[in-house]
Amino acid sequence: MRTLSVVSQKGGSGRTTLSVNLAVAAERAGLSCAIVDLDPQASGWKWSQRRKSEAPEVITAVAEQLESIQTKAAEGGLDLLIIDSAPHADRAALLACKVADLILIPTRASILDLDALKPVLELVEMARRPALGVLNGVSTQTSLDVEEARDAIKARGVELHAAYIHERVIYKRSLIDGRTVIEAGSDAKAIREIGGLFAAVVERMGLEIPAGEVAA
Ligand SMILES: Nc1ncnc2c1ncn2[C@@H]1O[C@H](COP(=O)(O)OP(=O)(O)OP(=O)(O)O)[C@@H](O)[C@H]1O
Ligand SMILES: [Mg+2]
Repeated sequence: MRTLSVVSQKGGSGRTTLSVNLAVAAERAGLSCAIVDLDPQASGWKWSQRRKSEAPEVITAVAEQLESIQTKAAEGGLDLLIIDSAPHADRAALLACKVADLILIPTRASILDLDALKPVLELVEMARRPALGVLNGVSTQTSLDVEEARDAIKARGVELHAAYIHERVIYKRSLIDGRTVIEAGSDAKAIREIGGLFAAVVERMGLEIPAGEVAA
């Protein structure tokens, strides 16, 4: 089993959106996947309640439970555990980082979001786990700020996913009835973005996709 922790300090950076989209991509690729929702807002858990399908399972928890959840999930044969954390760089986020095989750090390209990277990167350093940044909510209209954001992230020593997750209506709309962009099926570009991010995560965590399946 592998654990992916999705961590950022700033609210609205896309932790829940990416967690649920990656979880469904994993299920589609033949992996069993569950999400641990650490955010008291429980957006991920609420998404699962609006959903028709049972997988992926979403449970709410506090960070102190993570190790035992992880142990039980591994014993139960789960392939991928995704931890959707709360918007803080605190002890809970540090615990989420410590149990991760990979830390995914979504960020928007604005200066306020980039400023908020510093405390998260300090957690990553403390946890000594590999991390991957991803720029989310990038405008499809203008590339203003994005190159600067790329450089700023790389200057902080974080590897950045090569492709952007753009601002697309389908990311919002699909969550309304508990689906994801893959299940909505209407926006090929969004599906490719999630497929690309999933493939990057799979590769970095050394996850094996069952024979006959394709990564998202
Ligand atoms: N790439 C995107 N395109 C369009 N809308 C997006 C995108 N990513 C996220 N959103 C929307 O932005 C809002 C915030 O995203 P999300 O809830 O995933 O962020 P979060 O980091 O989990 O925030 P929170 O602090 O509330 O937990 C949501 O309404 C979501 O649907
Ligand atoms: Mg959230």
